[in-house]
Amino acid sequence: MKTVVLFGAGQVGAMVSRLMGPGYRVSCFADNDEKKWGSSLAGIPVCAPREALAGSPDCVCLCALDEERCGQMERQVRELGFPGEILRPQSLKIFDARAATMRLLAEQINEENIPGDVAELGVYKGDFAILINAAFPDRCIHLFDTFEGFDAKDVAVEVREGLSRAKEGDFAGTAIDYVDQRLLYRERARYYQGYFPNTFARCSAEAFAFVSIDADLYAPTAAALPLFWDRLSPGGVLMLHDVNSTQFRGPGKAVKEFCRERKLLPVPICDLHGSVLLRKG
Ligand SMILES: C[S@@+](CC[C@H](N)C(=O)[O-])C[C@H]1O[C@@H](n2cnc3c(N)ncnc32)[C@H](O)[C@@H]1O
Repeated sequence: MKTVVLFGAGQVGAMVSRLMGPGYRVSCFADNDEKKWGSSLAGIPVCAPREALAGSPDCVCLCALDEERCGQMERQVRELGFPGEILRPQSLKIFDARAATMRLLAEQINEENIPGDVAELGVYKGDFAILINAAFPDRCIHLFDTFEGFDAKDVAVEVREGLSRAKEGDFAGTAIDYVDQRLLYRERARYYQGYFPNTFARCSAEAFAFVSIDADLYAPTAAALPLFWDRLSPGGVLMLHDVNSTQFRGPGKAVKEFCRERKLLPVPICDLHGSVLLRKG
């Protein structure tokens, strides 16, 4: 078994630590941020890079997804005198646990004929919406977004509660037409442009079988949870993004409160942004 130091104690690092196969034993995280030294992430201690490498691991895994950042980290590891193998979690860009889970659920929901439409709150450029649409070709897909980015009202809540550094207009660079021409079954799409939850009143769906909630912020997530849950068919699924996120803490807070109130237990997915599932029995 190889011992491995994970360089980068952030969200990518936490996911990599959970994805490591049985051939590897993670000894610790290395991180340049002094504030993290002495803490732990996913139950693994975090220390300074020099200290981490002093234990002579067999390999170091660079826990970042962008090439430039990985290059800097690799140079630093070599400058610290590490001669061994350096791994890069490039394959994380190819494999996406959130998309894979959604597709698997779609197969099951379609096979079992669980009734209802599908939906997404927080569409942005449609990266995930196009996958949902392709996985549910026979169902109407309801797409909710301001298509102008974050709203000032929601950002004010983030600032007041210290939940994120979100700014009004973040994620503004998109448009319905752009998303629409990316969909495989565009005749199935219904768009609700504007502030959620106000736009929900226009939604004609009587029931949902699958809903992705990916608005990043506390207020829209907290508003969406009861609205979609109460219209979810038995066997239907809510998939929530950013629930175990360090960048956006609002969705996690909203899910915790909702689950406490409704006595539900979210099932985590091992993806980069800490998604969870809520399934109706
Ligand atoms: C991270 S993006 C969604 C990304 C997309 N699901 C994907 O996987 O590519 C978050 C989106 O939520 C939208 N959003 C946030 N708060 C909203 C609100 N109150 N009403 C409508 N849309 C909102 C933003 O405009 C933004 O496009």
